[in-house]
Amino acid sequence: MSVREEFDAWAADGRDRGMEDRHWHTAKHALSRMPVEPGDTVLDLGCGSGYAGRVLRDTRDAGRVYGLDGSPEMARNARSYTDDSGTGYLVGDFDVLPFDEDIVDHVWSMESFYYATDPAHTLEEVARVLRPGGTFYCAVNYYEENVHSHAWQERIDIDMTRWSAAEYREAFRAAGFAVAEQDSIPDREVEIPPESEFPTEEWETREAMTERYRTYGTLLTVGVA
Ligand SMILES: C[S@@+](CC[C@H](N)C(=O)[O-])C[C@H]1O[C@@H](n2cnc3c(N)ncnc32)[C@H](O)[C@@H]1O
Repeated sequence: MSVREEFDAWAADGRDRGMEDRHWHTAKHALSRMPVEPGDTVLDLGCGSGYAGRVLRDTRDAGRVYGLDGSPEMARNARSYTDDSGTGYLVGDFDVLPFDEDIVDHVWSMESFYYATDPAHTLEEVARVLRPGGTFYCAVNYYEENVHSHAWQERIDIDMTRWSAAEYREAFRAAGFAVAEQDSIPDREVEIPPESEFPTEEWETREAMTERYRTYGTLLTVGVA
């Protein structure tokens, strides 16, 4: 299945907003660390509902925010959630970013990067469009150390790249980035039921669910171009 087919279906049944609700728990902490200044241009790779760009416009006065997504329905939904002319939503692929060199100030991506067909090349593309000193904030919940995410690949017919934290750092450096920071942001908001309610539909033990959210959470890697 293609990215377009898969995620158009997600957008059509409202999963864009569902992802926004879940991802916001950790995304907001990562977004608050981005050094976005008034007037900056920001690109959101795999924008889904487009919430990240809208927040950066509202709270940081970002000048122009672009959300790029391989699913036309995601991009259409994102557009419909705002009438802000400072936001633009594009249909495209992580393989070829539709921007000239050195014109984007910051790139954001939440739970999307690992769908890239060739993630090392996508990193080169991100480095190409970023101005020197610009940042790439790359947030993922699917990564090697998060053993509870490993089964996700079985549920989707698109190849996902499962790097470790060290592999993210290596790949960022190979693409020419300096790695400014990397850490795990715990999800402290998802509700974890009392012990007596386990096993649940999704979790065998409370310990596993707690580890998934409170310990592993979201892996954030920050590269500086
Ligand atoms: C799991 S969703 C995350 C959406 C949003 N960033 C969030 O935090 O809710 C992944 C998004 O990346 C997009 N995507 C996946 N692979 C892509 C690719 N190769 N090029 C462009 N977009 C892609 C999908 O269409 C989808 O909207």
